[in-house]
Amino acid sequence: MGDRMLIRGGRPLSGAITAQGAKNAALPVMASALLLRGRRLTLERVPDLKDIHTMANLLRHLGAGIEFENGRMTIDVPDDLKWETPAELVRKMRASSLVLGPLVARCGKAVLPLPGGCAIGSRPIDFHLRGLARMGAEIDLEQGSVHARTSGLSATRISLDFPSVGATENMLMTAALTPGESVIENAAREPEISNLAQALRAMGTYVEGDGTGTITIRGSRELGSATVRIIPDRIEASTYLLAALMTRGEVTINDINTEYLAALLSKLDDAGVICDVSPYSVTLRGADQNWRGVTLTTSPYPGFPTDVQPQIMAALCMAEGTSVIHESVFDSRYVHVAEFRRMGGKIDIQGNTVVVIGVSKLIGAEVRASDLRAGAALIIMGLAADGQTEIHELKHIWRGYENLMEKMTSLGADIEIEPGSEIDE
Ligand code: UD1
Repeated sequence: MGDRMLIRGGRPLSGAITAQGAKNAALPVMASALLLRGRRLTLERVPDLKDIHTMANLLRHLGAGIEFENGRMTIDVPDDLKWETPAELVRKMRASSLVLGPLVARCGKAVLPLPGGCAIGSRPIDFHLRGLARMGAEIDLEQGSVHARTSGLSATRISLDFPSVGATENMLMTAALTPGESVIENAAREPEISNLAQALRAMGTYVEGDGTGTITIRGSRELGSATVRIIPDRIEASTYLLAALMTRGEVTINDINTEYLAALLSKLDDAGVICDVSPYSVTLRGADQNWRGVTLTTSPYPGFPTDVQPQIMAALCMAEGTSVIHESVFDSRYVHVAEFRRMGGKIDIQGNTVVVIGVSKLIGAEVRASDLRAGAALIIMGLAADGQTEIHELKHIWRGYENLMEKMTSLGADIEIEPGSEIDE
């Protein structure tokens, strides 16, 4: 058996924490280093997480030299790069697909085994492949791997069928090394896209329109060394705010851009929970707080983030009245519901919609973290439940939350890890 997390619930969280750097911004910015030739990309505020190490190992395998200490990462990219990615790394993380565009643009070819990641519905990469094909890459699927090659890409106008975050990032990076003007329409508008655009601009690319649905890129054959600071992690911050609410505590998140939290803060407002918000910090006071059930639909930014859906569902399990959640970004992102029910959550699923009937009490139980955000939501449930909660399969949680045990303990949570008898990879 692997490691287990033991939580004795019922203690209000209280105190202040600093937001980590955003995992989902750091990963594409790291991949963008592959566009360089004999140059260095420096990243600041990089969170120390399993997914970050997986991406670093993937880049090392391709030939990059990487140093990572105290949130600062340098990536030195040689003239020659390998262009075949190893299945054992790629299958660990879906974001590995972000190296595809840069490799094709830089080496003229790439091999990528179909990536893995969280078990949340079918997650194809057809938009990425269609975009690359439109820019002039030949794409074949052979034995479970994507083989892409080109004798030269051309700048083009691409309209995505859905504002996919990963496909927008892949196109943005590919276009940066393709001379001429490319335009991405129906592009994703997430702040993490703007962080990548900022990195590309620092390397010398003209990028305009990030943060809107139409991004224009003027690419060039050679990019320069650059330094970029990773933005704060809005999903981590949201998780701690919801934990503060659920435990009726008081938590401040510092060094966060609260604009990124607008969808959550407005939903909390609907539920009757008012936070104290300034541009770079937010405090949620949950003491004596009752909150009402709400209706919400997840959607691409600036809509309500799918990555906070399991955590808000946890909070809504203890709301007054009924909530309705509709998941519009992923199919089958409700694996956590069965675990919530074990803890006393009253939840009904119908297709991509769930109905949550608020209860006044949750009970600790033995549960399994099926994916990263489901795991985070189970921690929130455990912190609020009566008695002890035991969470298994922690490996998913370490993919996204830096210093979770230290941060939770500093806020007063009664939480510990009981080492398992085997290594929990
Ligand atoms: C990114 C985030 C992930 C988040 C998601 C949605 C990273 C590293 N991960 O994932 O945490 O949950 O955005 O906000 O940034 N789709 C296709 N074909 C494609 C690409 C996507 O059908 O080629 C579908 C997906 O199956 C999904 C939807 O589009 O239903 C959105 O996916 P996408 O925005 O691409 O998510 P990721 O970039 O994988």
